Amino acid sequence: MSRMVGIDLGTTNSLVAWLNQARPEIIPNRNGQRLTPSVVGLDRAGHIHVGETARAQLTTHPESTVSEAKRLMGTSARIPLGSREYSPTEISAFILRQLKEDAERFFGERVNEAVVTVPAYFTDAQRQATRDAGELAGLKVERLLNEPTAAALAYGIDHLDAEKHVVVYDLGGGTFDVSVLEMFAGVLDVKASSGNARLGGADFDRLLMQELAARIEREYGLRALDDAHATARLKAAAELAKIALSSVSSTNVSLPFWGMVGGQPVSIAMEINRDRFEGLIDGLVRSTLEPVTAALRDANLAPAAVTDVVLVGGSSRVPLVQRKVAEFFGRPARHGVNPDEAIALGAAIQAGLKAGQVSAARGIMISDVSPFTLGVEISKRAFDELQNGHFSPIIPRNSTVPVSRTEVYSTTGHAQAEVEIRVFQGDAPLTRDNVFLDAYSVQGIPPGPAGSEKIAITFTYDVNGILHVKTKVLSTGKEAKLVVDKNKLRLSPEERERARERVERDWSPVVHPAEPTPPTPPPTASAGSGDDRERLISAAVAHLAAAPEAQRAMLRQLIEVLQLSAPGTTEAARADAALTDLLFELA
Ligand SMILES: Nc1ncnc2c1ncn2[C@@H]1O[C@H](COP(=O)(O)OP(=O)(O)OP(=O)(O)O)[C@@H](O)[C@H]1O
Ligand SMILES: [Mg+2]
Repeated sequence: MSRMVGIDLGTTNSLVAWLNQARPEIIPNRNGQRLTPSVVGLDRAGHIHVGETARAQLTTHPESTVSEAKRLMGTSARIPLGSREYSPTEISAFILRQLKEDAERFFGERVNEAVVTVPAYFTDAQRQATRDAGELAGLKVERLLNEPTAAALAYGIDHLDAEKHVVVYDLGGGTFDVSVLEMFAGVLDVKASSGNARLGGADFDRLLMQELAARIEREYGLRALDDAHATARLKAAAELAKIALSSVSSTNVSLPFWGMVGGQPVSIAMEINRDRFEGLIDGLVRSTLEPVTAALRDANLAPAAVTDVVLVGGSSRVPLVQRKVAEFFGRPARHGVNPDEAIALGAAIQAGLKAGQVSAARGIMISDVSPFTLGVEISKRAFDELQNGHFSPIIPRNSTVPVSRTEVYSTTGHAQAEVEIRVFQGDAPLTRDNVFLDAYSVQGIPPGPAGSEKIAITFTYDVNGILHVKTKVLSTGKEAKLVVDKNKLRLSPEERERARERVERDWSPVVHPAEPTPPTPPPTASAGSGDDRERLISAAVAHLAAAPEAQRAMLRQLIEVLQLSAPGTTEAARADAALTDLLFELA
């Protein structure tokens, strides 16, 4: 039997979980870590690696490392990785592939099926891309589950008998989702979802990074964001400072060997306090309350009627976020779930539901909604004139899924043999203000005067949040032939097969003569010292997994200093000694 797991494919971190005797549990990765950084790197030998080791090379080899690919899912972006180039879907496939292998190692058997979570506010294209990524990784994606719904499942499994109105506020690394649920007798009923698919902790990092860059230029007279290395280092420092500011009111940012002034290396040391950081992110945090208001309005619920507010996502640890949310609801949030793990645990429960390990009979059931209004573009006749570009909704937002709705439209031209159906999501009356999803052409319409032929368009929104479109010409009763327009984002079966082969080949490369070998680094000053340094760095990376939070930050800093400092210098020797000591302490 093949196992089914639950996967939280996050912008910053990913997790895999399973249902062990009706209790969801996180599966640790090969390093013993529960969170796997969603970072993909290419090493010198041309091997792809995922997780902590890839993350460790983010600042030293930004050109052969990719992070936050989730933010590009569903776009036609090409992501360079060394001399190669991948789609965001392929990058995500590598991460899923790693999680699959880690789970297989854990079980000692094959894992071929998964429930994968997506932000509730992901569009059709982003969902399709996520499902494709699973397939490229050799996983059948049994279900795409909305992240806040997953978190609600993890929360709900301990509150099965309660009657509650729950709000899940999920602020991760790259996305923000909010869902309003009703819970009673083991039924979790999502009433409304809203969010912002491009807002998260990475945006806090960016603002803080810009602030630090401005200070470096002002206080040290050094350029700060000139190249990819500097940007990656500063971003990593900004994230560390941000995380520190969740527990202390002021922190130091230190960047050894930032640049040269008058032939001398200059190191940077700055202090940043929580007030300043909060000033920077205030607007972003405030902006999360708009989708919260919208979701509550759609669910017909006043903030005061909400019984539990559940915070998930790493960025919900930011004190300002907790304060703003508490102010909004007039009470502090619940700490009933682990903000990093709830989504993966919920995905494992859903996997258990699919596999029949837990069931409605045993007390748990969920229903979800479609977060967007979906419809088509039409022309309207006004004062005897045809106006194009109007939006005609077919499925209103926050309809319980699966849902199927049909609307009937007429032809507008004389002897019109073909109709173009352009599908949009959004709530604006004009399509130009909504998001274009797809276009189809309906052919084979019998000739007749304008308006004589009627076409029924049926939208079905499935439980995965994926839209299916069907049309029928009423006079002939025939299902119209749908020709999917060349949508660059959708893979043809051949492209899919090619992508699958490429991911498979690049994941576990045999020897590819065509692949140029990356240049080996120049020999270092003293023979053997380069190897020692590499060995020390790998040992440190291996320890990152198990190291306590405080030491982990220190480890990362020292690895970075060691990688950046010229061999033989005092700084290198110091970092070497400090790292050796720290490893001794951790051993
Ligand atoms: N203690 C903390 N204080 C502030 N921010 C934190 C803290 N711990 C983690 N974060 C931030 O949380 C984010 C990661 O959260 P999480 O792992 O929930 O995101 P994700 O699941 O990868 O992203 P998404 O759900 O948006 O796809 C990062 O931006 C990280 O810097
Ligand atoms: Mg997340």
